[in-house]
Order: sequence, then structure tokens, then C-alpha cells
Amino acid sequence: MEQQDNNREHTSFLVFSASLRKNSLNTKLAKLAVKVIEKHGGTVDFADMADFDCPTFNQDLEVDNYHPEGAEAFRKRILANDAMIVSSPEYNGSMPGNIKNIIDWTSRFRPQPFHQYHALLMSASPSMAGGNRGLWALRVPFEHLGTRVYPDMFSLATAHDAFNEDGSLKDKTLAKRFEDNLVAFMNLVEASKHYPCIKKAWVEFLGEKPAKETERVE
Ligand SMILES: Cc1cc2nc3c(=O)[nH]c(=O)nc-3n(C[C@H](O)[C@H](O)[C@H](O)COP(=O)(O)O)c2cc1C
Repeated sequence: MEQQDNNREHTSFLVFSASLRKNSLNTKLAKLAVKVIEKHGGTVDFADMADFDCPTFNQDLEVDNYHPEGAEAFRKRILANDAMIVSSPEYNGSMPGNIKNIIDWTSRFRPQPFHQYHALLMSASPSMAGGNRGLWALRVPFEHLGTRVYPDMFSLATAHDAFNEDGSLKDKTLAKRFEDNLVAFMNLVEASKHYPCIKKAWVEFLGEKPAKETERVE
């Protein structure tokens, strides 16, 4: 890696892999993202998917404002950082159930922490499409919850054969694209945090009246 870039205002990133597997390709990709972010002056909070483990969601468990520990941990770490980067496997053309489950649990806090939060999605798979279809599925709940999901996503194809021993990518063109993708995201997060140029406006939507049964998102 080239010299570190410290010419930035401070930004911090929650980086995690949505795989629990020991030799996960997505964890490898997430760890490579850590190196790139640190090289460019960002701070990283690396999380293990096991940190956010939750029981299968069941509304009947929501008694006395109950939230599982994993959801509490996810919420805290979202709020402690400026943005998140998720590297997620693709299962059957979609996202793994465990990540949807923690999103569902974490969406039950008020205020819910995904609103106006920045996220970058990436994937790794042995397939030729690199798990990219799963990311389109993963965008949906995040965008539903008001997350600013970065338009450019990164999917690593034939990931089982893509890494060098030191965790870098064998293909130099791909390595540059990966780094450029992350740096562009870092620029956006930095600008959003430190150089806001638009003010919030109150927009009233009269179409839906608040009620316990229909209240899903703010
Ligand atoms: C239940 C299941 C479904 C899968 N479906 C897909 C799929 O739709 N597309 C794909 O590219 N890979 C699929 N795979 C293969 C995963 O991409 C591969 O196991 C990958 O290594 C998982 O990510 P990880 O290494 O980070 O755990 C599937 C694997 C499992 C276990």
C-alpha cells in the first residue's frame, strides 16, 4: 500500500462481514477495506457478525421494550461511527437471513439508527457475479429505513482465487477500483459530516396517520 493520507477531517467507519464462517471470503474483503480506510486516514471499528447475533425475530418477544443484546450492540456501534461498510455473502440470489434478522431487530429502536446513515455495500463470492444480486436485495431494507446507500457497490467475483497471501487482491486493476470505490465513499462521508451545505426542511406528509399497527419507520 502507498503512503497514508492524513489530509482529512476525522471520520470513523463500522466495518463488518455478514458471514459467520471462519474462512469467510467476505471477512477477507472487509479486512482489506480496513487497510484501505486506515491508509486514507479513516478510523475503523471492525465488527464480527457474531457481535450482533439475535434470536429469530418475533414480535411477541417485544414485551417491556425488549431488544436483544445483538441489536443493542449493532445500534450502539452504528451511532458511535459516521458510516458503515458491510461485506455480505449472497445466499440464493439474496441476502443471508442473519443480516436481515439483525436489521429487523435494530429497526425497532426509536429513533431507529439507520435513518440518514451512510452505508457502502460489498460482496465476495466464488461465482462469476461476485454475489452482486444479494447486494441489490440488501439495499432494499436499508433504503426503506432511510439509509443513504452509496450508489457504487463492489462485488468480488471468483473470490476463492482473488486474494494474495497478505490479503491484497491479485488483480491490480481490481485493487485500484476497490480502493477508488472506498475513497469516494470516504469523501462523501467526510463532506456530509464536516461540510454540510443544505439545511433540513420540515416536510409534512398528510397521507398516513400514526398508529401502533402501521408504525414501521420514522
Ligand atoms: C445457502 C447458500 C446459498 C448460496 N447461494 C449463492 C448464490 O445465490 N450466489 C452466489 O454467488 N453464491 C452462493 N452461495 C455460495 C457463497 O457465495 C459462498 O459459500 C461464499 O463463500 C459465502 O461467503 P463467505 O465465504 O463470506 O462465508 C451460497 C452458499 C450457501 C451456503
